[in-house]
Order: sequence, then C-alpha cells, then structure tokens
Amino acid sequence: MSRPATPSQAVILVGGEGTRLRPVTSRVPKPVAPVVERPFVAYILDDLARHGVARAVFSSGYLAAAIEAEIGDGAAYGVAVDYVVEDEPLGTAGAIANCAPKLDDGPFFVFNGDVLSDVDLGAFAAVHGEKGGMATIFLTAVADPRRYGLVQLRDDGSVADFLEKPGEWEGTALVNAGVYVLEPEILDLIPRGRLFSIERGVFPKLARAGSLYGYVDHGYWRDIGTPESYLQAHFDILERVVRTAVGDDMGDSYVYVSPSATLGTAARIVPPCYVADGAAIASGARVGPLAVVGAGAVVGEGASVVESVLQAAVRVEPHADVSRSILVRESRVGAGAQIHAAVLGEACDVGAGNQLAAGIWLAPGTVLADGCVGFREQFDARES
Ligand code: GTP
Repeated sequence: MSRPATPSQAVILVGGEGTRLRPVTSRVPKPVAPVVERPFVAYILDDLARHGVARAVFSSGYLAAAIEAEIGDGAAYGVAVDYVVEDEPLGTAGAIANCAPKLDDGPFFVFNGDVLSDVDLGAFAAVHGEKGGMATIFLTAVADPRRYGLVQLRDDGSVADFLEKPGEWEGTALVNAGVYVLEPEILDLIPRGRLFSIERGVFPKLARAGSLYGYVDHGYWRDIGTPESYLQAHFDILERVVRTAVGDDMGDSYVYVSPSATLGTAARIVPPCYVADGAAIASGARVGPLAVVGAGAVVGEGASVVESVLQAAVRVEPHADVSRSILVRESRVGAGAQIHAAVLGEACDVGAGNQLAAGIWLAPGTVLADGCVGFREQFDARES
C-alpha cells in the first residue's frame, strides 16, 4: 500500500479535566497550563510545525474558551488550528470522531494534549506506511507502567496485546505514549455522540484483527498529568534533556533572564534557571538551580527558590524558602515561610512564617493567616 510520507493534519485531544494535576488545572486547562512560561500545547505545535504538519484540530470541552483564547488560530506557532468543542466529554475515541468533519480524507496524527516528547514524526509515519495497519501507536518504555496502557508486540511489530492501566505489574514495559497515526477508516469504528475510549474500545479490536502496530522510540517522553511530572517537565526543559525552543534560547549557559527582569545587588541566579519578563529578584535572593520565575513574579530579599516553579505574578516575600514546589499564578508566600514539596493554587495567600511540606496542596484562593501551619519532621504521637 502506498501512503503519503507524513500526514499533514493532526487531532489534539485537549478536552479532559486534568483532575490529577489539580490545583494547577483548577482554573486553567492542562493543555494551556504554563510550562516554562508557554502554554503547554505550544511545545506540541512546535513539533508539528517542525515536521511539516500544517493543520491541527483541537478537540476540547473542559474550559474550552480558555484554550482558544490562548492559542487562537495557531499562526504564532506555524500551524493552522481549528476547534471542535464537546458539550459532554466523549472520551478519547468519541472526541476524535467528533473532529471528522474538520479532517481531510487521509491519515492523521492524534496527540494526547499532555505529551512532551521529541519523537521523530517523520520516522513514525514512515513505519505506519510500511506496516500498512489501520493504526500505529508510538510506544515508549517506562519503569512503572501501571498507570498507562501496556502493549506487547509480535516480532513483526504488530500489537499482540493491549492492556489498559493494569494496576499490578513489575518491571519496565512498553506503554502507549499517547500519540498515534490513524487511517480515516478508524472513524467508522467509533459510535457518534457518546462516551467511547480509543484505548478500551478501538485498540483491542484492531489488535485482534492484526491491524494495529507499534512504533518504539527510546527518545525523550513524558506526560505532564501529575504535579510531579509537571514539575519534572520544567526541569527537563531547563536542563535541555528534551529539545525545545526554550532550551535553544537558553543555550549553553542554561540561564535565561529577560531583559525586562530586574536583579538586585548580590541576587544569585544558579543555572539552570529561567527568569521571565518583568520579574524582580531582590538583593541577596537565590533563585535556582531548576527554577522558573514567571512574568512579573517577585522574589524578595534573602529569599530562596530552588527546584520550583513560580508562575506569573507570584510573590515570594523576604527570607521565605521555596523548594520542589509549584506556585500557581498570583499566589503569595509571606516573609520567612517555608514551602517544600507543595502546590499552591491560583491566588493562594500563605501568611508569614507558615511551614508547608510533604505533598500538601492548597485549592485556589486559600488564605492562611501568619504562622498558623507548622511541620515537625520527627513528630511521633506515641509517648515513649
Ligand atoms: P485526568 O483527569 O488527570 O486523568 O486527566 P485528563 O482528563 O487529561 O485525562 P487523560 O490524561 O487520560 O487524557 C489524555 C488526553 O485526552 C488529555 O490530553 C485530555 O485532555 C484528553 N481527553 C481525555 N478525555 C477526553 C474527552 O472526553 N474529550 C476530549 N476532547 N479530550 C479528552
């Protein structure tokens, strides 16, 4: 079968609620949650543009208007973007089928809207063309595959077995990386207008028919669906483990400081580090390694921000310590507070001297008065 080398169109699934990434996604949908100061899906659009994929249809639902407001017609990213909005979630397959009227006749890519990778889409499409199946799945090896779709391949590259989120599993395995090449005939296998999953409803059926193939790529891959993974995606971009435009801009210094940012005397910027437009780092503050300071964010005198993301307009007041944390836009950390391994939702206000640790997260708008939360590492309720 002869097929065009690389499809020129893609569907990007951006309609999920992103529940696991709350409170980052409480007010901003995951696909446009900022990742190193860009809406996440911009990284996918860069990838499409680089491989000559000219059109993308966004399949949205949850907070759809916020996605469209951010990405618009895609001109800024070199891809023509169109939108199909669901009234009710249709699941991954229902959402793809819903885009059918916007697709040209021919194969197309599908991306989960939370995948960061530098997969070679040209090589992927070439394997799809060679094998001649109805669908080819990009597969990646992960150490703990339990929250993914597990895939077993035959020697000819066809999928023998597709096991969605197996719960129990030991050791590394190939998993569904959330990027596919599909032939348009797939659309005939999907019932219209109701919840239907491609992982559960379509792929097992194609595997049984011998028409589903895997494309194994051992390059960079991560989904940004949990706070740990979202934070790690920032680190990977800053460390240039994955190739991105942001990393290219940082270059070998692994530092970007916007010309409109201000740095006080003896402010320390420790690479890798990204300081966005209009941010202010006061004197004696330390930012980095592995820190992002968002647009207009402020780090006060003597404060420290390490392995953390401050989104736009966050304020970290003097002598506060922030480590391994995500501070969503407009949140404030009062003087001398210590924030470790925590996620603060939009516009949280943590008063001076509080101590937050151990995976705690605050819903948007939470207010903690000065000195009302503490943390004792060695606390043991039993009296000896
Ligand atoms: P969680 O709630 O944390 O599981 O996140 P999620 O809602 O994003 O679900 P998941 O990560 O499994 O979804 C993978 C991709 O498919 C994401 O990019 C979602 O936006 C998208 N997606 C999931 N369900 C739907 C749906 O019903 N409709 C559309 N259009 N997209 C969906």
